[in-house]
Amino acid sequence: MTVTEALQKRRAIPSFDPTVTISREELERLIDLASLAPSSMNLQPWEILVCDTPEDKARLLAVAMNQKKVSEASAAIVVVCNLEFPDHAADEADSQIERGYTPADKRDGFITMAHGFKANPNIVRDEAIRSCNLWAMSFMLVAQEAGWETGPMGGFFPDKFAEEFGLPDSRYPILIITIGKANPSIKILERNFRYSAKDITHFGNW
Ligand SMILES: Cc1cc2nc3c(=O)[nH]c(=O)nc-3n(C[C@H](O)[C@H](O)[C@H](O)COP(=O)(O)O)c2cc1C
Repeated sequence: MTVTEALQKRRAIPSFDPTVTISREELERLIDLASLAPSSMNLQPWEILVCDTPEDKARLLAVAMNQKKVSEASAAIVVVCNLEFPDHAADEADSQIERGYTPADKRDGFITMAHGFKANPNIVRDEAIRSCNLWAMSFMLVAQEAGWETGPMGGFFPDKFAEEFGLPDSRYPILIITIGKANPSIKILERNFRYSAKDITHFGNW
């Protein structure tokens, strides 16, 4: 499947076949592929919480406005921003040095620059959400290629989710992605309209 085909085929699935399961190995394979997504300074602010048991899906359902697809899907994964992502700078600096991107004497400077994000919590959050969104789309595309179907869902209560699943204050959940196979008894309607390039594109000036 080409990227174009994955984009054309991906739909937000309204109802899943509850008899279909997905293995943890397959989920980890898709998560590894999605983690090839770009991120600010390659600091990879994403973490993933997986609900793939009936009990955990029921807990998620309770904080996701009772959107039934959460419990029908083979799994529901939650994309969580790690707001402490500047702390990944040491790993990134070491990797850059090992691969010859950066001389070793620039290590401390890189780490200091990354920690500069922390001066402004809004920037930390914006930057984390930007990168985590790219992760989320990458996950949906690679899942599509592997024959799965998905549904992005912002309809949940972040505070209630954090409390139910024990997230610390430094973790901010942004999106649920349901994954499975569409319920065969549901008709998926034709894709809704999109604004065209002509509608949304500005060349040079606004
Ligand atoms: C950030 C975001 C939040 C969404 N939240 C929900 C949701 O809570 N429940 C739902 O049924 N669909 C949700 N959707 C799915 C959209 O309604 C769907 O993507 C859109 O209608 C376009 O349909 P398509 O993805 O099939 O092209 C969400 C999509 C995005 C990107």
